[in-house]
Amino acid sequence: MQIQHNISLKPFNTFGIDVKAKQFVSVTSVTDLISIYSTKSELPKFILGGGSNMLLTKDMEALVLHINLKGKHILSLSNDTVLVKAEAGENWHEFVLWTLENNFGGLENLSLIPGNVGTSPIQNIGAYGVELKDTFYSCDALNLETLEIETFSNSDCHFDYRNSIFKEDAKGKYIIVSVVFKLTTNNHVLHTNYGAIASELEHMQISNPTIQDISKAVIAIRQSKLPDPKEIGNSGSFFKNPIISKDAFLKLQDSFPDVPHYVISEDDVKIPAGWLIETAGFKGKTLGNYGVHKKQALVLVNYGGASGNDILKLSKLIQNTVMRLFDIAIEAEVNII
Ligand code: EPU
Repeated sequence: MQIQHNISLKPFNTFGIDVKAKQFVSVTSVTDLISIYSTKSELPKFILGGGSNMLLTKDMEALVLHINLKGKHILSLSNDTVLVKAEAGENWHEFVLWTLENNFGGLENLSLIPGNVGTSPIQNIGAYGVELKDTFYSCDALNLETLEIETFSNSDCHFDYRNSIFKEDAKGKYIIVSVVFKLTTNNHVLHTNYGAIASELEHMQISNPTIQDISKAVIAIRQSKLPDPKEIGNSGSFFKNPIISKDAFLKLQDSFPDVPHYVISEDDVKIPAGWLIETAGFKGKTLGNYGVHKKQALVLVNYGGASGNDILKLSKLIQNTVMRLFDIAIEAEVNII
């Protein structure tokens, strides 16, 4: 384990923001992780997973720990289900592809989401009608106070839309080191109701899809709408879809009869932030080397060389404009550092 100094974090965040870490270490074992936390250091520590859900706005006066724990394996196999475990530093999409090669079902709708396995439970990643919580079985996390590994079951994690205990009560207190998923080996439950999946499968001329077909459809949809972080810096959805009251929704619908929406309970309606931002006129807007993606207004992009503060300023302008036009607050989904 080697501590490096003044390292650029550009390759370690999908926005491609060039800030420096005062100290940087790649952590490849839990033993190393514990030893780092047992040693006194004058710098605060900062945990970096896949770097896919953060906007870095300044140099880090910190010891940055790049969680690089690797490994994936089958824990137990029964007739219809399997428990699989992946270490935190595994790339999420490569892990999903591995489950599909083994014909394990449950993660196919979550194909091509950037980031690592270890950070996936923190915001309960979700896409195309499926959330991580649907297949999450448990995770092991290092308690940073006791330096012991604790196991969190699905219910321990208090999963919610883009939220979990790791963003609330347990925030900053644990590092997730591995995650176990319960997947199907037979009788896979297919989620094809999400509009875009059904039409993509039709386009692919597939009427009896396998889990692998669904993954291919999801990959095609994502590639058509979302920029590849290897080509254009971005962090996926920059904002969460806001949830507003039914009364507020009815008022909004009066002025905008076509507003897309999902009724999530008797009193709450979710509005796509992408629609609000597009209607506010920001879709495809470019300000020099950064802007709003032309195919999905929810995604802010760095075309190369933008600073975190440039993108932060744009996000604030969008939030203020959406507030002024629709009286709706949209919250950032990415962590602003
Ligand atoms: N819309 C617009 N303009 C846009 C984008 C969207 O009008 O520029 C409208 C669409 O027409 C549609 C609605 O908004 O009626 C919803 O759009 P979409 O299906 O693309 O999904 P989303 O709500 O924009 C969410 C997730 C994505 C996930 C997709 C698919 C959040 C914040 N985002 O986006 O997650 O891939 O659903 O399930 O919940 C991510 O978190 O990084 C991410 C990409």
